[in-house]
Amino acid sequence: MSIKEKQEEITKAMKEWQTLENKAVAQTAKIMTETDHPLIRLVMEVIQRYSNMHHRVQQMIIDGFEQEFIGISPDDLVRVWDSIEDHIKLEKKTIEMAQAGLAALEGTSKTVLQQYLLTYLLVDEQKHDKMLADLDTIKKGMFKSA
Ligand SMILES: [Fe+2]
Ligand SMILES: [Fe+2]
Repeated sequence: MSIKEKQEEITKAMKEWQTLENKAVAQTAKIMTETDHPLIRLVMEVIQRYSNMHHRVQQMIIDGFEQEFIGISPDDLVRVWDSIEDHIKLEKKTIEMAQAGLAALEGTSKTVLQQYLLTYLLVDEQKHDKMLADLDTIKKGMFKSA
């Protein structure tokens, strides 16, 4: 398959994915009208916001093909790396905090809500850490997809 064909295929898939994200926004809104429970509502709101973010990410994947200037080079990262390094430390600290919270609640009763939310936060903070680790790999000119 030519590069052009691959770009078209990915673009088509991203657009389909964006329709799913739009549906996710509508579905989570519907669920929020069906319950007053604060936890369920919060989970739906989190998913809804992520669906909006995912839509934007998919758009950048598309735009990156269409507009030459959207690319990323090691130099782009080197320019802001001191600040990113500080941020990496912050993310690592939040992972430790989530782990400490979960460890403190282990085996306790009536803390399902707290454990559920801390588990969510832990995974989310680990994702941020991974995103930054991948930027580091791009900075080193060594990024390869799996
Ligand atoms: Fe999504
Ligand atoms: Fe974070």
